[in-house]
Amino acid sequence: MKVIITKDYEEMSQKAFEVMHAIVAAKPDAVLGLATGTTPIGLYKRMIEDCKNGTSYKAVKTVNLDEYKGLDYSSDQSYVYFMRDNLFDHIDIDLKNTNIENGKAEDAAKECERYDALLEELQQDVQLLGLGSNGHIAFNEPGTPFGCGTHVVDLTESTIKDNSRLFKDISEVPRQAFTQGPKNIMRAKKILILASGQNKAKAVYGMVNGPVTEELPASILQLHPDCTLIVDEAAASLIK
Ligand code: GLP
Repeated sequence: MKVIITKDYEEMSQKAFEVMHAIVAAKPDAVLGLATGTTPIGLYKRMIEDCKNGTSYKAVKTVNLDEYKGLDYSSDQSYVYFMRDNLFDHIDIDLKNTNIENGKAEDAAKECERYDALLEELQQDVQLLGLGSNGHIAFNEPGTPFGCGTHVVDLTESTIKDNSRLFKDISEVPRQAFTQGPKNIMRAKKILILASGQNKAKAVYGMVNGPVTEELPASILQLHPDCTLIVDEAAASLIK
């Protein structure tokens, strides 16, 4: 794993943007695996700026990591809403080329199969990841078998608590989500993982210096042949 330590969140976002921009410049129809959360917002702001400055994202295809079960675009807490609000509605991407699990799918097993098949077809040129404070990637919570494809997950109490800051009340946080599994994530040609802030320091340490274990899902990234971690000083404070 290549590790780049930056001064702060802004520098982390800028370095991540440089990686993303190089991929789209070299391959205008690249498949970008995208993520939600607070961490990638600075990167998305730069992609919006980049599009205003002339880079076209029209042919780009996207596959997102995860979606809350039971939510869709009609909820402003859904991840599809987040992606439109923070990126897609501000660049020239064709919404038909954007993909995310359907949180309101009636048949959850079928939806997982559909998304696995889609990911087989749209192998990510790059998969962007944030990091949960418990070491999760996407919504793969500690204990998720590394061999898992897209699946429905019961969110842990710590994730429900972390994510409740974006809801009016913790009781509104969905208890389940669809997520790409570690297997889908590891198929990406390149992985770009970002982490910022002191509350991620323990998870960053485990991911970089700890053993590869299903108890810390992000540790699997040590086995990926092309993984770059861009991390600010606060989140990097425990790594050796
Ligand atoms: C959620 C998402 C993850 C994200 C994580 C960290 O649980 N499912 O994909 O990486 O939160 O979020 P944040 O970037 O807001 O710290």
